[in-house]
Amino acid sequence: MAEIIVALDFPTADRALDLVDDLGEAGTFYKVGLELYTRAGPSVVEELRDRGKSVFLDLKLHDIPNTVAGGVRAASQLGVDLLTVHTAGGGPMLDAAREVSGEMRLLGVTVLTSIAPTDLEATWGRKIPSMPEEVGRLADLAARHQIHGVVVSPLEAALIRSRVEPEFLIVTPGIRPAGVGRDDQQRVATPSAAVAAGADYLVVGRAITGANDPEAALHSILAEVDRVKSDDG
Ligand code: C5P
Repeated sequence: MAEIIVALDFPTADRALDLVDDLGEAGTFYKVGLELYTRAGPSVVEELRDRGKSVFLDLKLHDIPNTVAGGVRAASQLGVDLLTVHTAGGGPMLDAAREVSGEMRLLGVTVLTSIAPTDLEATWGRKIPSMPEEVGRLADLAARHQIHGVVVSPLEAALIRSRVEPEFLIVTPGIRPAGVGRDDQQRVATPSAAVAAGADYLVVGRAITGANDPEAALHSILAEVDRVKSDDG
């Protein structure tokens, strides 16, 4: 059953928490990313937890195993529900993260949804077979190292779903309801397409936070997701 995670990409805790309060009961899960965490620190996570919300801390950790383990341990002690680590950090780093993750679930970042195939080829200095294959290779690495799931674009979700265990989490950013602009994202899909492709969580930022009426935007996305679920029977 897919859930919506609202990305709180704001420069201040006040603005972020105002949105959380505006969205009320309909907003259950929030993503705290680099900007907000760097400015507001752990207290914003505590504020969200005090409001009964689940928290996805999207720090995309990528460092030597010992350093990443320290960050993962700290996030777990803070009561975070989901935390990202880069799969490109490699097996030993993923193992070190997993050993100290406690109750918190870890998500492996594969290829950022802002990256187009040509950008990836330029970064890695080689031809890639296809984006889904590259993402699949990194998802397999995450699964082999007992990471709980991955962040992938909705366009790769179906392929990943077909090759991982059902409990392996698939989280998709790059969500754009029909008629909403792509911004800097390259690989985007509608909420219903992401759910149909097998996503467990949809991360939605600007389509809600940048809407004239964020509450209406969230309700409309929730209704779209519900329609896919009821079509599935
Ligand atoms: O505004 P938008 O819906 O594009 O925001 C997507 C959110 O998901 C951002 O907070 C971005 O950092 C995050 N994200 C992403 N691609 C990933 C992982 C996270 O866009 N691979």
